[in-house]
Order: sequence, then structure tokens, then C-alpha cells
Amino acid sequence: MLKHTRMSDPELYDIVVEELDRQEHNIEMIASESTESEELLELSGCVFANKTTEGYPGARFQAGSQIADKMERMGIERAKALYGADHVNLQPYSGSTANYSVYAAALKPGDCVLGMRLDHGGHLTHGSPANFMSKFYHFVSYGLNPQTEQIDYDELEALAKEHKPRLIIAGGSAYPRLIDYERIARIAHSAGGLLMVDMAHVAGLVAAKVIPSPVPHADFVTSSTTKTLCGPRGGMVLCKAEHAKALDKGVFPGAISSIHLNIMAAKTWLFKHAASEEFKQVMTQIVANSRALAAELTGYGFRVISGGTDNHIVLLDLRPKKITGKLFQDALEYVGITINKNMIPSDPEKPSVTSGVRIGTTSVSQRGLKEPEIKRIAAIMNEVAGAPEDKNVLDACKAEAMRLISAFPLYPKGPLE
Ligand SMILES: Cc1ncc(COP(=O)(O)O)c(C=O)c1O
Repeated sequence: MLKHTRMSDPELYDIVVEELDRQEHNIEMIASESTESEELLELSGCVFANKTTEGYPGARFQAGSQIADKMERMGIERAKALYGADHVNLQPYSGSTANYSVYAAALKPGDCVLGMRLDHGGHLTHGSPANFMSKFYHFVSYGLNPQTEQIDYDELEALAKEHKPRLIIAGGSAYPRLIDYERIARIAHSAGGLLMVDMAHVAGLVAAKVIPSPVPHADFVTSSTTKTLCGPRGGMVLCKAEHAKALDKGVFPGAISSIHLNIMAAKTWLFKHAASEEFKQVMTQIVANSRALAAELTGYGFRVISGGTDNHIVLLDLRPKKITGKLFQDALEYVGITINKNMIPSDPEKPSVTSGVRIGTTSVSQRGLKEPEIKRIAAIMNEVAGAPEDKNVLDACKAEAMRLISAFPLYPKGPLE
């Protein structure tokens, strides 16, 4: 791995090896993470990184782009076939840039946008005052029904009638249930606006048809290509044919400049891989594993937000266990299980402490863990929650976590070249 860097910068090489070792020996359960295949790592560092090009295939601003044209067209066709989309733009650098591109395409400064509250599972780019987009658009937020802890569609509809948003955003970073895209599309269109679905978290599950697709209902669908899609660190936007021209202008020159062609190469490989039976099996197991985790943790007395999960996310309210998200995150990190603290609806704690955690099953499912191993992980989590500051307990849990994960290599085909 990194044979040239090893010679020219051994200090940096050692840091990368240390990170590989951390990933190899930890149970990674951050819901936005996944493991990039050897091919994705190769392509992300391939010679397309040397080429600058802007614009679109057949209409570039730089010479020497014909081969890049061939690749971008291939990536677009593969992504269109995978998702059944009218139009695809693969140039956004990330999920956030994909969202900004749609804002550039569909909104004028001052327009009203309706998005899900950050502390109810939305994303920073959906209207948080901390994000600079909130200076340009008038964001209004909808949230969860306090009883079901699922989207309050009636509130959403009432807010849409009142504010007549130009854009409604569905999708989030910490929402474990299915979303009724058809209903939200109806609400958006009746209010005279458009629907953007941010499927960043569930794009892999959608590609494998393990959960319903937003593509038939949404005007725009944005995504990052990491998370459940298990691809490189990038973004993309799909849209209906009538928005294609506006979207392409929104992406370039609206939101980005030159294309990261090396990442485009990795995305192009990804869309072939995501159509395979192997990918579908992993996606199916992700959901089976998160359901098993939710059921097992419920049995141990944790409170699972919304009572369960339909995707790769399990969101826990830790108050019945009398520990905070921060303490649980830190204790599990010591043990070798990586998760993140997360606000829960109406959380009494600060965002730096929280009453909840978000757990994801993508990476462990890619490594081959199934329900029996998930049950062992839930048992470790329960032990840790019961004694988060007891070194003897934590050390015993750490040994068990290491035994468990050692049987499932991160890169089973052998060491990285
Ligand atoms: C729903 C959602 N949208 C967008 C993003 C941003 O993606 P990226 O980190 O690729 O910019 C995230 C990632 O955290 C997300 O969860």
C-alpha cells in the first residue's frame, strides 16, 4: 500500500497505516460510513486526477477532454439505468454540494424552503441557522410527531399551505424510517413548489431496491456517494427531464468549477457494482442487521426512537440507561466500537452531550457480519451501558469486540496493494 509514499514520506505513510489498523480492528458503526473497495481506492487515485475540465461532455472549456467525455457519459448512463432517472449530474463534490446545486438551480434569494429540523433528523444543509444557506433563503422547519417519532405529515402539509415553499426537502441524517415520498410530492406540488429528496443516507438501499425509491416522485434527488452506496467521497443529483437544463447550470457554473475526474471514475465503477447481486445481498443484510440490533437492544432495555428501523440506522434514547450520548460514545470507542452521539427529538442535553446515539450497520454488513454477530455486539453495548466507567468491564468488552471483528477482515482479498 502507498509504496511510493512509503519511500518519500515515511512519517505520513505510518499515519495512514495506523488508520488502516484502526479500521481493521474496530467495529465501525457510524451510520454515514462505509468501506471503499480496492477498485474505488485505485480509481480515486488514478491519472484522471491530472486532468482539468469544466462543462459537460461535448461542450468543455478545456482541450483534451474527449476521454473524460467518454467516461462521464458512461457514468451518467449507468446511474440513470440504476435509479431509473430521466437525468443525472455526477459532478457535485459531495452531498452538501449536490444540495447547493439544486438550490442554485431551483431557488431565488429569499425563496421559502421547508426542510426537516436538524434535531429531528434533518441535515445542516436543510436550513440550519449554522449553515450559510440560511442567509439566502427563508427556511421553515417541520419535525416529528411526538407520539410516533415519525414525520408529522399533517404538520408538514399545514406548513406548506401557510408558507407556500418553493422547495420542500425530504430526507435526513438520522431518520430510521421509510418516508412517504408520494405524499410529500403531492403536498409540495399542491403548494405550487417542488420536491427535493436528499437520499444521501439511503442511496445504496434505494439502488438495490431494498427500500422504495424517491425517484418517481421527486423533482430532484440529491445524494452523496458514500454512506450506504459504499462509493467514493462525492455527490450527485438526479432529476426529472424538465429540470435537466436548470440543474446542469446549477451544478456548473452555479456551484462548482472543475470536475474531480478521478472521483468521477470511481463513481462510474460504483454504478456498475451497485447493479450486481453481490451489492443487493449486502444491502439486504444491512437492513436485517439493523432490525436485529434494534430488537436486541430493546430487549436489553434501551429505548429505540420510533420503535424500530426500516433502514441502516438505529437511533437510541439512552435516558432509560441513565447515561448520556457522549459517555456512551466514549466508552464504546475505548472498547473498539465506533458510533456517534446524536440529538434525539426534544433532547434536554446540549448537542455536545446529547441523550442519544446513532448507530449504523453498513460497514459491518460489508465485512460479512450477520445476525449472530449483531447479537454479540448488542450484548457488548449493554455491558458498556451498565458500567461505562468501569475499566475491568470495559477491558473485558474490548477483548470480546476484538475477538469478534478479527474473524471478518476489512479487505478479505488480501493486503491493499
Ligand atoms: C442527509 C445528508 N445530506 C447531505 C449530507 C452531506 O454529505 P457530504 O458529507 O458528502 O457533503 C449528509 C452527510 O452528512 C447527509 O446526512
